[in-house]
Amino acid sequence: AKRPLSQLCTNHERPSFGIAFDIDGVILRGRKPIGNSPQALRKLYDESGTLKIPFLFLTNGGGVPESKRASELSELLGVNVLPSQVVQGHSPFKKLVKSFENELIVAIGKGEPANVMAEYGFKKVLSMDEYASYFDNIDPLAPYKMSPNDITSTASSPRYDVSSERVQAAFVVSDPVDWSRDIQVLCDILRTGGLPGKEIGHQPPLYFAADDLEYQAAFSSERLGMGAFRIALESIFNRIHPDALQYTSFGKPHPFVFKNAENILNQLQPFSRDNQVVKDGDAIGHPLTSLYMIGDNPAVDIKGAQQAGHPWFSFLTRTGVFRGNENHEKYPADLVVDTVEDAVNYILDKEI
Ligand code: G3P
Ligand code: MG
Repeated sequence: AKRPLSQLCTNHERPSFGIAFDIDGVILRGRKPIGNSPQALRKLYDESGTLKIPFLFLTNGGGVPESKRASELSELLGVNVLPSQVVQGHSPFKKLVKSFENELIVAIGKGEPANVMAEYGFKKVLSMDEYASYFDNIDPLAPYKMSPNDITSTASSPRYDVSSERVQAAFVVSDPVDWSRDIQVLCDILRTGGLPGKEIGHQPPLYFAADDLEYQAAFSSERLGMGAFRIALESIFNRIHPDALQYTSFGKPHPFVFKNAENILNQLQPFSRDNQVVKDGDAIGHPLTSLYMIGDNPAVDIKGAQQAGHPWFSFLTRTGVFRGNENHEKYPADLVVDTVEDAVNYILDKEI
């Protein structure tokens, strides 16, 4: 870098670029930082811990509210991450509150899917764990499994009469844990119009937070993601139901995800360690002229940045799904680097 970051601070000068970091396979594998990610991120703050370079995390993962993910990331990476810097696969579900605010909905996936949806403002949410627990024998394999872990109410009687109240929509918030139970009960909900065990009805809307076929977790080779679950559910549903499954998937590589990231980066203000905005004034105003996406998945991160076009520039790291020596053939990145730290060094060298 030609200038120290602190100089940007003294001059109250806002950088003209921003960075979007993928998480799995770039920043973390499981809960373990990779590619010198803590060191790389620290370069985006000055010595006092004030954020100098607008950046956010743009992940297709999720399962916990953005505020909780921000605290987890802060702890794992040793920098102060704000909830507004965390965009997860399910973050766009917020926009659907007006359609389903007071309707019974079911939330599926690892972590706390029902809490995520409740925080977004959905008022009648049941996790799949809780919903399934209201039906005797709905999952014939249940006696062979561990007990459910995301029941949000401790009340002994059901909160809703699920034998007469229809489920109006199902949201796959994060990677499903119990595929057999979730596919079984989702087929029940979807083929009956929201009343398992009852007559056939119109399919309620079904939303997926993302459609990743595979992603990089702690294991040495890729793991099956939400897209794999979607294929399994869709193949089965289409064999047992006359009409093909209708669904909507969110997440990268959709162009709106990159547009939304651009808007958030443009609005991020420098902030100090105690989350106080350091200064406004000219901090906001000029839109960022360069945006960098650092990802590990060519078909998701790189394809998305390519489709988004100017001013996005894509980096493909070798720490996750992609491991090639050369660039990816079908979705070549603007630059292939070994690690996220290499990408950040390149950006800072070029921009400052
Ligand atoms: O489940 C997470 C995975 O599908 C992708 O996460 O951070 O690589 O977009 P990320
Ligand atoms: Mg990734």
